[in-house]
Amino acid sequence: MTFKDVIYGRRAVNFFDPEKDVPELLLNEIIEMASQAPSGFNIQPWSLIVLRDYDDKMRLQKHAWNQSKVSEAPVTLIVLADTEGWRAGNPFLEKDFQEMLNSGAMVEEQRQWFYGVCESLYGASEARKIAFSCKNTGFFAMSLMLAAKSLGLDTHPMDGFDIDAVRGEFKIPDNYWIPLLISVGYFKSDQKRTPSKWRKTVDEIVVRFD
Ligand SMILES: Cc1cc2nc3c(=O)[nH]c(=O)nc-3n(C[C@H](O)[C@H](O)[C@H](O)COP(=O)(O)O)c2cc1C
Repeated sequence: MTFKDVIYGRRAVNFFDPEKDVPELLLNEIIEMASQAPSGFNIQPWSLIVLRDYDDKMRLQKHAWNQSKVSEAPVTLIVLADTEGWRAGNPFLEKDFQEMLNSGAMVEEQRQWFYGVCESLYGASEARKIAFSCKNTGFFAMSLMLAAKSLGLDTHPMDGFDIDAVRGEFKIPDNYWIPLLISVGYFKSDQKRTPSKWRKTVDEIVVRFD
């Protein structure tokens, strides 16, 4: 499968084969591929809750407009974006800085500068925190969907859910925004794939305002 095949072949599919499981090793491969997504300062503020158990998926589905794909797919992911991932003391920010020290990309004297830049870029307001966490996690989520497609699976991203209810149901801490859910599985072969939908043209996408 060429990259073009992956890009043009991915669809948000509504019908998953409930009989066809996604083995853990395969899911791990998809997640590992997605982990190669870029992020500001390589902070990687993303996490996943992996739901496989039918009852767990139904607990999610009831807060997700009862969209049946949530439980029909063998795996549904709750994608989390850490709005505090930029903050000094966050274990992954500390790991990130340590890795930069190890690779020679930064020196110890830059530590306070680094913390300050992260805070001013990503933590200056609630809006900035959500933007920071969700833009980076969006790259991760897209990478995950393309990785799945490249390995013969299909996905469905969803933001049709009640974020507060999902947070409460799965005891998700307040520092996480929940940008989307992603169902992952194999397309149900007795269903018809929806044709490609309209997209903005290049001319419609490219703008300037001055
Ligand atoms: C962030 C996001 C949220 C979405 N939420 C839902 C959803 O809750 N329910 C749904 O049926 N489709 C949802 N979709 C799927 C879109 O409708 C779909 O991606 C779009 O129509 C383009 O179709 P395609 O992905 O098959 O090319 C969502 C897509 C994205 C990227």
